[in-house]
Parts: sequence; C-alpha cells; structure tokens
Amino acid sequence: MAKQSATESEYPVRVNFVCLGNICRSPVAEGVFRTLVERAELEDYFDIASTGTGSWHVGEQADARMRETAKKHGVSLASHRAQQFEPEHLESFDHIFAMDKSNLKDVLALDASDNYGNKVRLFREFDPEPGDYQVPDPYYGGAEGFENVFQIVERTSRMLLHRLVEEHELEEQMLE
Ligand code: 4NP
Repeated sequence: MAKQSATESEYPVRVNFVCLGNICRSPVAEGVFRTLVERAELEDYFDIASTGTGSWHVGEQADARMRETAKKHGVSLASHRAQQFEPEHLESFDHIFAMDKSNLKDVLALDASDNYGNKVRLFREFDPEPGDYQVPDPYYGGAEGFENVFQIVERTSRMLLHRLVEEHELEEQMLE
C-alpha cells in the first residue's frame, strides 16, 4: 500500500535498472535486488524494474548464460521479458541506475526538459569496490564475464539496498 512518510517520501520506492539490451546486466540487477528486498521483507516498499536503452531484444527472455549464472547463485530470472527504457520512465521512477556510462548518457539524452538528472546515477556508485564505475558488458565474452557481472551486481545491490533503506527511512516505516 502507498504510504507517506514524515519526510514526504512516497511508497513504493520505484527503482529501474538500465543497460543496453535488458537481457544480461539489468535483468540480473533487478533479480538480485528483488531477492535481497524479499529476504529483508521489504517487498511492499519497492517497485523494481529493469529496461534497456535499445529495442533489439524487447520481449525476449534474459540471455541463457546470464540465467544460468544467476540460477547457480539462487536467483531466478525465468519470468523476465526484455523491455525498452521509455522517456516517461524519467517521471514514473524515483531512481534510475545505469549499468555503464553509455547507458547513463543515453538515458540523460531522453531528458528533454532537463528535469530528472537527479534521479539518474551509475549503479556502481554504490559498489564498495567500484573499479571504473561501470558494469562490463558480458554479451560478447565468455562464461567468466557473466560470473564477474554477478559478483559486481550482488555486492553493489547489498550496498544499494542499505542506502535506499536509509534515504527513504524505511526502517522507521516498518516500525510504525
Ligand atoms: P546487456 O547486454 O546490455 O547487459 O543486456 C547486451 C545485450 C545485447 C547486446 C549488447 C549488450 N546486443 O548488442 O544485442
């Protein structure tokens, strides 16, 4: 149920993870983040999606290699179907997390009114080991690239959830 906090934050907090194709990186970010939210029993407080800046794979399942890697770690991507990032998502989501700098640039290019830049960030800003702040695209590489993406996404999602719980004062909400 939608709630209003003392700081005027509304629930659910709407989160959109964005990559290029929405078949590798952002689906696994969505799946891992959703799994962490469910484990923390916070599912009433979040609305979680993922999209791609490109349209090539719309309607497709997540890449089989990404599904397999996620499954090995207990995260199912079975219900995922690729969607494209739409300009109206800048309005309808509270947080937009881009997997790399190219995705960030492509999302910001859709912000014609220049109103929503404060919602759009690089996902790996929340990585305790941020490297170059980008999740590398595993699409054209081998299996180890998918495992590397999973490891980056898992540790970044843990920190991200912690930070969003703080930012949106969700612990206080849960105690009410
Ligand atoms: P993603 O990976 O952006 O992590 O979903 C890719 C998927 C497809 C393509 C590129 C990257 N592609 O060129 O089709």
